[in-house]
Amino acid sequence: MYTQRYATSSPAVPKVRPVFHFDQVTVDFGKLKALRSVQLSVLPKDILFVTGASGAGKSTLLNMMAGLVEPTSGKIQRLQDDSRFFVASVFQDLRLWNEKTCEQNMWVSYDARLYDSREQFHKELLELSRVLGIYDHLGTKIEQCNGGLKSKVAMVRALLAKPDALLADEPTSALDRDASFRLFELLNHYNQRKGLTIVWATHNREMVKQFPGKVAHLDAGRLMYAGQACFI
Ligand SMILES: Nc1ncnc2c1ncn2[C@@H]1O[C@H](COP(=O)(O)OP(=O)(O)O)[C@@H](O)[C@H]1O
Ligand SMILES: [Mg+2]
Repeated sequence: MYTQRYATSSPAVPKVRPVFHFDQVTVDFGKLKALRSVQLSVLPKDILFVTGASGAGKSTLLNMMAGLVEPTSGKIQRLQDDSRFFVASVFQDLRLWNEKTCEQNMWVSYDARLYDSREQFHKELLELSRVLGIYDHLGTKIEQCNGGLKSKVAMVRALLAKPDALLADEPTSALDRDASFRLFELLNHYNQRKGLTIVWATHNREMVKQFPGKVAHLDAGRLMYAGQACFI
């Protein structure tokens, strides 16, 4: 039976501006439709898992959020385009400096406007590195690191920039189960404590089931499901 409990909007609730709003977005690469009429909103503080098989359109969706791809038809609105809202991305191309050490790569995120001092930044750098188990490798050059270590360095660097939202495209593909869960625990903590909005593309269904969040499931560019993870 329909009751007030299921009402989706109420005049008493102020409208929150979405971080990303896709309105009937289609993306064509030549004849190929990477996304088809996608309708989706990501709200501040959301954790959204973007799932789907390889080629389903996950990276295209995240690239659009990052402003790297524009719709062929339809519209996308991004909060960062007209407000002070900072979006960090950890994509497959991690954009690390190979000849620099892990720690030097993390210092790229230092911004005097975000930290009281360099010491404070350094303290957070060490803390995050300890949590992710990369403390002992801070002096190692990136070119000598394995894929898992590199992705963790990229993640720490992104978090040190204090983003309002984080886009992560299969960030755990080079990590084992324990490391993947530890990484997500950390992000979950940022979500709870600092309100970090998280969009995480993955085909790790186990992870999606383990953590609270929403799911957007893509199949051949079509959004098949968007809602709470507990219902999949
Ligand atoms: N820049 C591009 N040029 C041409 N085709 C692309 C490009 N980017 C993605 N595609 C195609 O779009 C589809 C969706 O790709 P992608 O978003 O990378 O999927 P996923 O991340 O889910 O594996 C795939 O068929 C892929 O080959
Ligand atoms: Mg992809």
